[in-house]
Amino acid sequence: MKEKGLQGLDHPSPFMRTLAGEAQAIPPMWFMRQAGRYLPEYRAVRAKAGSFLDLCFNPELASEVTLQPVRRYDLDAAILFSDILVIPHALGQKLSFVEGEGPRLEPAITKAGLDRLRGRNVLEELAPIFETVVKTRAELAENKALIGFAGAPWTVATYMLAGGPSKDPAALRSLYYDDPDFITGLIDIIIDASIDYLIAQVDAGADALQLFDTWAGGLTPALTETLSVIPMRRIAEGVKKARPGTPVIFFPKSVGALAVRYAQEPACDAIGIDFSQDPLWARAHLSGHTVVQGGLDPLLTVHGGAAMETAAGELLRAFDGAPYIFNLGHGFTPETPPENVAALVNYVRAGAWRKN
Ligand code: CP3
Repeated sequence: MKEKGLQGLDHPSPFMRTLAGEAQAIPPMWFMRQAGRYLPEYRAVRAKAGSFLDLCFNPELASEVTLQPVRRYDLDAAILFSDILVIPHALGQKLSFVEGEGPRLEPAITKAGLDRLRGRNVLEELAPIFETVVKTRAELAENKALIGFAGAPWTVATYMLAGGPSKDPAALRSLYYDDPDFITGLIDIIIDASIDYLIAQVDAGADALQLFDTWAGGLTPALTETLSVIPMRRIAEGVKKARPGTPVIFFPKSVGALAVRYAQEPACDAIGIDFSQDPLWARAHLSGHTVVQGGLDPLLTVHGGAAMETAAGELLRAFDGAPYIFNLGHGFTPETPPENVAALVNYVRAGAWRKN
């Protein structure tokens, strides 16, 4: 386990104490995509806001939807309501969300377009988001943490290069082999913008940060190092240099045993595991390096019942005695019945899983 400041261990929030390396009898919990379409109260605010982007840039409403799941389930942390694609948006790519199709970024980035991305002040464009952080932190009790976030550079780059969700990850590897300077040039731009963006979130009141590398899987081990581990390290170190003591959670999805590489990074305060990781393997190979978070298949929360509780119990027992944050292995889908989430929260908090 890494050296931690005592400051974290004194924190009133169990989530923050866990990030500082202290195991809790009942792990703190929050859920990826905890605010979103599965909640009727989110759909009501979303309808009032207009588009998804209007919602992200409306501090009043964005703060409201950030707080909704914490109120409903008494979760240990709120995650800022925004999106990883606001960075490309602030860099000058036009972001829109097409119903049933997902995000669109126009125009797709080419090498010739790279220069236009440089030297832009993303903070001005993203100012409403920092206001959301200020408002949200003011509403949260001191035992609740507020998580800020950004996409990891590789994941953000895949959307920027494809102009939306990439349908062909092999084509992206090819792009790198064809012209590594183009891809690393783009990644450098995303790193610099993300460091500024995350420091501003911390200054506005974010207690901890998470980097989402949803598309880290499917790279070779060498490319994982170059395109995912090193860029995430540079962001986390850049933020910590400016704002020492800020905990950073890495979520590299679908990386299998390469998760160890991330967990070993000195700047990685916790690693999020996805639903393909074996909890006992993760306890044996990751918990010695850092705090572990997550792992539950979000589809189990769609189905609920005994299967959901069995899988949650396996995770909780695997990490019993280690610093662990209960969470999913990816975000909730819109089909999740909110009452299944309530049942899951009760199951974790009741503690009967320890005896099974
Ligand atoms: O509650 C939270 O987790 C905080 C908010 C959050 C959102 N997106 C809200 C959102 C966070 C942390 C994200 C991260 C994000 N966004 C990732 C990384 C994590 C992951 O899920 O893999 C990625 C890849 C994106 C890009 C993105 N944004 C996609 C692929 C989509 C889905 C498009 C669709 O229409 O389903 C979004 C939109 C989005 N981001 C929604 C939400 C609640 C749905 C938009 C809506 O309400 O219409």
